Amino acid sequence: MRSLAVFNVKGGVGKSALSVNLAHAAATLSARRTLLWDLDAQGASTFMLRLSARQGASARKSIAEGELASLIQASDFANLDVLAADKSLRDLERQFADDDKAKRLKKRIKSLEADYDRVVLDCPPGLTELADQVFRAVDLLVVPMLPSPLSERAFDQLTEHLARELKGNAPRLLPVFTMVDRRKALHLAAIAAHPERRCIPYAAAVEAMASTQLPVLAKSPSSPAARAFAALWADVERVLTGL
Ligand SMILES: Nc1ncnc2c1ncn2[C@@H]1O[C@H](COP(=O)(O)OP(=O)(O)OP(=O)(O)O)[C@@H](O)[C@H]1O
Ligand SMILES: [Mg+2]
Repeated sequence: MRSLAVFNVKGGVGKSALSVNLAHAAATLSARRTLLWDLDAQGASTFMLRLSARQGASARKSIAEGELASLIQASDFANLDVLAADKSLRDLERQFADDDKAKRLKKRIKSLEADYDRVVLDCPPGLTELADQVFRAVDLLVVPMLPSPLSERAFDQLTEHLARELKGNAPRLLPVFTMVDRRKALHLAAIAAHPERRCIPYAAAVEAMASTQLPVLAKSPSSPAARAFAALWADVERVLTGL
């Protein structure tokens, strides 16, 4: 089993859209048994797969004890399950901070090893305690970023943080340009500086996920955005299988 997190310090950069599409690509294009774990209490990626969190005391108890299985739900797609954002996430984060067990999330992901080939974490923004747990838990960080100098600074801060906090144990990093608009000079300059990075175009098909509640590859498989997600997934899969 291999795990990846879609992470950026910044909010609103397309993390949830990317998480849903990568997880869907893993399940459908690569036929991997895939779990999308929505770590953001806003539940955007859960919603985009037509699911909602199971509420209530039993859910809260389960997640506190690391019994994830009872919270996992099947999506409408073969091979794709979802661990929905839940109110208990707040408790989970507090617990991470309290008990100082640096590898708690890592152990929980490991407990899923028999059931899944790929685990995709959709992270909330911010360099929080939860983020540090994520960095210790996953094999790969996919970092969606707008093509701009400010995004580049935030990315540099992330790489410095990882080097400082995790030293040699930091996960692999895969920066990706999102919401790319090739009519913008700033975008073109950023892309020219990093021609090796994949570009996800700014696309109505991605925006529409909020209303269709479907991955782009399911709704508009031949669109440029769908092709970009598929190409990015192929890169990710190559990295994960090579580890
Ligand atoms: N490639 C894209 N083209 C057009 N719109 C996009 C694209 N990617 C994301 N969006 C839109 O941008 C907004 C933010 O996207 P998303 O929720 O995926 O970002 P996020 O980084 O997960 O945000 P948050 O930090 O709040 O979790 C949404 O309205 C989404 O529909
Ligand atoms: Mg999000």
